[in-house]
Amino acid sequence: MTARSSRRSSFRTLGELEAAAERTLAPDIWGYVAGGAGAERTARANVEAFQRWWIRSDPRSEVRSVDLRTTLLGEPVSAPFFVAPTAYQRSVHPAGERATAAAAAALGLLGVYSTLSSDSLESIARAAGAGPRWFQLYLQRETALSLGLVRRAERAGYSAIVVTIDAPVLGSRDRQLESGFALRRSPPIGNGPRVRTPPRGPEWDGGPYRPEDVASSTWATIATIRRATRLPLVVKGVLTAEGARHAVRAGARGLVVSNHGGRQLDLAPPSLSALPAIVHAVGSRAEVYLDGGVRRGSDALVALALGARAVGIGRPVLWALACGGRAGVRRYLGMFGTELANSMLLAGRASISEVDRRLVEPAPRG
Ligand SMILES: Cc1cc2nc3c(=O)[nH]c(=O)nc-3n(C[C@H](O)[C@H](O)[C@H](O)COP(=O)(O)O)c2cc1C
Repeated sequence: MTARSSRRSSFRTLGELEAAAERTLAPDIWGYVAGGAGAERTARANVEAFQRWWIRSDPRSEVRSVDLRTTLLGEPVSAPFFVAPTAYQRSVHPAGERATAAAAAALGLLGVYSTLSSDSLESIARAAGAGPRWFQLYLQRETALSLGLVRRAERAGYSAIVVTIDAPVLGSRDRQLESGFALRRSPPIGNGPRVRTPPRGPEWDGGPYRPEDVASSTWATIATIRRATRLPLVVKGVLTAEGARHAVRAGARGLVVSNHGGRQLDLAPPSLSALPAIVHAVGSRAEVYLDGGVRRGSDALVALALGARAVGIGRPVLWALACGGRAGVRRYLGMFGTELANSMLLAGRASISEVDRRLVEPAPRG
């Protein structure tokens, strides 16, 4: 089984949450969740990048309440943060993605659910009820299989398709290897036996790699998916202005500036550093979101000030799921929203529309 100690761990702070998750999960699962690619330089840099900005404090006594509501591709949400897609959630808690979806929906927050979910996309949709949900698509080797998943997502009430482009092959993840994590021991993929995870990458001196297993993820394939669905398309894994322009030309209505939590290309830039150039390149042609290293409400405020419309949260949601299932996720997301509202009030901003570039300044180097 995956859990080592009681799941009734309570947490009051982010630090307590992370420590409790590490205590709760078996070492191999912890290695899977916490680890990144290679020496984890990008994974660490994602978090550290938020320390390069200060929030300009301009408290105004007339700001006494804060409104976090916004829209994402036209859909109302209670706050500008969302649950990022993460695979195999039953490996951290038996209630899996259904617990996460129920918690996000209860708070009126967007949840994005992975192709590689342990629960089926239909059962996740049922757990989310009327809550906003997007489906994350890993392009499959056969386009027909990708299109089949898109159809199912349409029927199950997902309101956007998020195509992840940064994982044609899996990153090489040292910590995962060292911890002994093996996908074949994790619960099966809920979306059916034909759904494939991205293959392992090439080994320079041979090995089992077969280039034909890599799904075609050209912009043309993405344009094909876009033409095949009425749902808006979001491209996840953009880190350059050129990539952003390609995605918009292929019909993306939204982009996630992301390096997959530092799990793919070690030494890819931290998402926050890549954000301003992408916001500039895209202008008003698409919504720009960011994930990677977002841990707290004040991080969200910095990313919003630099032009993100919303931020996604990956690992901390898994920590919370591990520690308390649905209640744990609800508690963490609630803490996050409280801290965002508190930071805004202290910074003198009453609503999301008042958050702009003037709110932050670069921290002096040194
Ligand atoms: C355990 C784990 C599994 C993930 N699985 C997926 C996935 O199936 N699809 C995907 O697009 N991104 C996946 N991601 C990446 C997240 O969507 C997101 O980009 C990343 O976790 C954000 O960084 P953070 O963990 O620092 O918040 C995964 C991340 C983690 C930690």
